[in-house]
Amino acid sequence: MTLSQDKLWYKLATFYQVNVRAFFDSNCDGHGDLAGVTQKLDYFSNLGVDCLWLMPLYPSPLKDDGYDISDFYNIQEVFGTVEDLRILINEAHARGIRIIMDLVMNHTSDQHPWFQIGRADKNSPYYDYYVWSDTTERYQDARIIFLDTLDSNWSWDDVAQQYYWHRFYASQPDLNYDNPAVRQEMQDIMKFWLDLGIDGFRADAVPYLFEREGTNCENLPETHQFLRSLRSFIDHNYPHAILLAEANQWPKDVLAYFHEGDEFHMGFHFPLMPRIFMSLKQEDRSSLVWIMDQTPPIPDDCQWCTFLRNHDELTLEMVTPEERQWMWEQYAPDPRMRLNLGIRRRLAPLLDNDPQKIRLAFALLFALPGSPIIYNGDEIGMGDNIWLFDRNGVRTPMQWDTSLNAGFSTADPQDLYAPVISEAPYSPAFVNVKDELEDPQSLLLFMRRLVEIRKGKPIFSYGQLDWLRQVNPAIAAFTRSYGNEMIVVLNNLSATSQKIDVPLKQANGQAYDLWAQQNWPVPFDGNLRLSLEPHQFLWLKFQT
Ligand code: NOJ
Repeated sequence: MTLSQDKLWYKLATFYQVNVRAFFDSNCDGHGDLAGVTQKLDYFSNLGVDCLWLMPLYPSPLKDDGYDISDFYNIQEVFGTVEDLRILINEAHARGIRIIMDLVMNHTSDQHPWFQIGRADKNSPYYDYYVWSDTTERYQDARIIFLDTLDSNWSWDDVAQQYYWHRFYASQPDLNYDNPAVRQEMQDIMKFWLDLGIDGFRADAVPYLFEREGTNCENLPETHQFLRSLRSFIDHNYPHAILLAEANQWPKDVLAYFHEGDEFHMGFHFPLMPRIFMSLKQEDRSSLVWIMDQTPPIPDDCQWCTFLRNHDELTLEMVTPEERQWMWEQYAPDPRMRLNLGIRRRLAPLLDNDPQKIRLAFALLFALPGSPIIYNGDEIGMGDNIWLFDRNGVRTPMQWDTSLNAGFSTADPQDLYAPVISEAPYSPAFVNVKDELEDPQSLLLFMRRLVEIRKGKPIFSYGQLDWLRQVNPAIAAFTRSYGNEMIVVLNNLSATSQKIDVPLKQANGQAYDLWAQQNWPVPFDGNLRLSLEPHQFLWLKFQT
């Protein structure tokens, strides 16, 4: 397998998010590592994914699981070395798989030498790498993101005898992007990893780079201008590489991060995610239709990145307060399941470990516009541990088999970075890769088919989306159209059978069932007339 030469490869790709610490431990120290990911590359090839996103790899005091970087030019010791990453990239490329990595641009760890030197000496060039103030009065219109733990975006520093600005934990001081030296540093850091062979970056927390009085300090023009300069640097020197924006914003605001196709290649679609869960629980597609109606067209070379879950809480920032309350009641009945404005649970437990509902959620995600991303462990239906601190409960070790530590590591169980999920029905005895590979009915083999069916079909990446609004609201019914092809996608969101009887004049000829891989048994007469089982989905291909 070689890498696809398509410049727009990311528009067609299925992505997979790898929490390296949780994935596979190659040297028995209880932590997953880069060599472990390399050893498991066949797993990704079998699953059919095109690009891995590796969560932060840099040295870090781990106050925010690596999103607090203390050295941008190195790899955390437990993960291995820069050379290990080079090997992983080369081996992945040899299998046709690309790799992007997290880049935390907004802040550093307070242990980063820039902060350590800067706070101690106002005359050092590093003092001005951060945002200092004598009062906490500045930028009062900026919201607090980690609501459960913080009451201010300012913290007092005893060494500098001043306050410093931080949008996340106090151990993560924000960089001062008004300083040209900081902007240059970030470009140099990108260059270092791109020269190593990385295929791009998932750029963390990009809305918050600049601060301006009287604004909410998000999505500022200065931020966009700087991000465009990074894109131009990449385009000139590494035209195959991509930038994926983590901007937890409304689609109309994320649009600005695509700009005219000259800022980010991709952006996460945050508000779609809670609405997939909402529509399933309500057995009604309205919230999905609403959010897709709010999603503006994006420049041709750009793409949404869509997801069901990730390593953070299922964020409810992009819903109304009433909807949030309802989501908490429905999906997080135990207060321990709640965190900040979200829910710290994994996909399978959220969907009652119901195999058909989990399949439906993934199938819906893969049929909607955007390039989907799978969070490691969700493809086998892993559970969570709400007793662990912060978001750690959704970051437990990957369950490979039923051997010691679920086959994740041969270390003493006490030395694991986090305990393996131990309770039924999510313990390794019930959920593990090895058994699922041998079970034709497993979620993992379903995921492999899902990835395969979507692969190489530009209609899923480029096709227009049209809702079949006359269809009964319990069915998320839409078409994707591209050239003279159309796929009718029907998703029964409800736990009861549902009937459809609607005209579909734009289709003609014989329908082909993409899942059953055969022609639809009844000749098509211009009307879509059928019945769907509870939580059933159907993808029917027509010529138009
Ligand atoms: C977003 C990341 O996904 C999250 O895990 C992290 O805590 C914040 N950014 C701060 O870097």
